[in-house]
Amino acid sequence: MKRLNLYPLSENWRPPKLLARDKQLKVLLENRESQSPENFWIQGNRGLGKTLTATIFKEMTEDTFIITCSSSSFRRAVEEFALKNDVKPKVREDPSTIILRVIEEKAEGDKITIFFDDIDRLALGPTLTRDFGIHICNIYDRLLERGYTFSIHLITTKDFKDARKYLDRSAESRLNLRPLIFPPYSEGEIKKLLMQRLEFIDDLEWSEEAVSYIAARVARDAEGREGDMRLALEIARAAIKTFGKLTLEAAEKAWKDRETDYWVEILKEMPFGKALLLASIVWETLDRYEDEIEELEEGEEYYPVSWSEVKKRWRSNAEAVGLGNVKDHRLRKWLDSLRESDLVEARTLPKTHEYNYTNMRELYITLKADLMKLFYATQKIDWSKRW
Ligand SMILES: Nc1ncnc2c1ncn2[C@@H]1O[C@H](COP(=O)(O)OP(=O)(O)OP(=O)(O)O)[C@@H](O)[C@H]1O
Ligand SMILES: [Mg+2]
Repeated sequence: MKRLNLYPLSENWRPPKLLARDKQLKVLLENRESQSPENFWIQGNRGLGKTLTATIFKEMTEDTFIITCSSSSFRRAVEEFALKNDVKPKVREDPSTIILRVIEEKAEGDKITIFFDDIDRLALGPTLTRDFGIHICNIYDRLLERGYTFSIHLITTKDFKDARKYLDRSAESRLNLRPLIFPPYSEGEIKKLLMQRLEFIDDLEWSEEAVSYIAARVARDAEGREGDMRLALEIARAAIKTFGKLTLEAAEKAWKDRETDYWVEILKEMPFGKALLLASIVWETLDRYEDEIEELEEGEEYYPVSWSEVKKRWRSNAEAVGLGNVKDHRLRKWLDSLRESDLVEARTLPKTHEYNYTNMRELYITLKADLMKLFYATQKIDWSKRW
């Protein structure tokens, strides 16, 4: 197989032209030129180009500073920021002082833009929020004192309506934030963004069909990561890695693998017995309705299986892996927590049993998560190794 240079599909590759975020970029650029620039609460889920847009803004302007807050502490983040700007932080120097020192040493003009990227971690506790707020106030007051025109933008995945929770009152009133939203990428946008990158890979065989497939899956079917460009890139890279080219078949395979991995992870995060219970529901449903399930339309509910059968199945599986005696109420607790996380539904229905003369009722479990995805995941797990 010929070695391909997949750099354009990597995280760090910089597009020659920012597509799909030109509006947000324009808002930020115009804001910089205005008489009294505003401060933005830049909000969007993972992988929606927030950092990229800030980075490109920085390249297009002077005196833009990005402080990436994903380190373990704000101090650490600020120290790293200073070092990157060739400024050496002093021992026990206050973070806001460090930031100001960097700005004073580096800024050429008097229009300053500061991005705090990924502030989510800083807002995990009340003390953190207060500390962050105090630093923001210090920076704000001192930039003002020195006669700079400036903006302080905060980048986050959190909703603007919760901004108050993450910012101290005095910081909030100084910044008077406005939301700037990065919505999930649509299918068409993901397609365009992927093709923009593929054009830059020499000798790669790829089809538009495959790109459309990835775009559609990521836009609609990504289990909470809808529209995430990082995910689209992951899938494209995985497909090319195994097939050497980006065909529909390769894309489908890569997507299916990632779906299976996703569910394996969900199962592995559960206590072993609970995961085995969910698996038992999957296996019972499949066995019971094997033929009919093929006919189900997309979005239609699966068929219910009886709780007593599921329990039987769980017990024989548990025995096979040497899981000791587990009381019924324990199983019931696991079932309830599966319901709470919306993976299954439980209802009491008349028994479907053919000898049900007395109209007896029984608890029935219906799977709400996708049966086949879960099934492939249960196949991938080695159940003989308890965790
Ligand atoms: N409009 C775009 N054009 C080209 N590439 C993009 C675009 N948006 C996102 N990407 C790519 O997708 C990946 C994720 O983007 P980015 O890091 O900017 O996301 P983010 O919104 O900052 O996510 P997070 O909240 O996880 O930090 C990067 O590799 C980036 O280059
Ligand atoms: Mg980011």
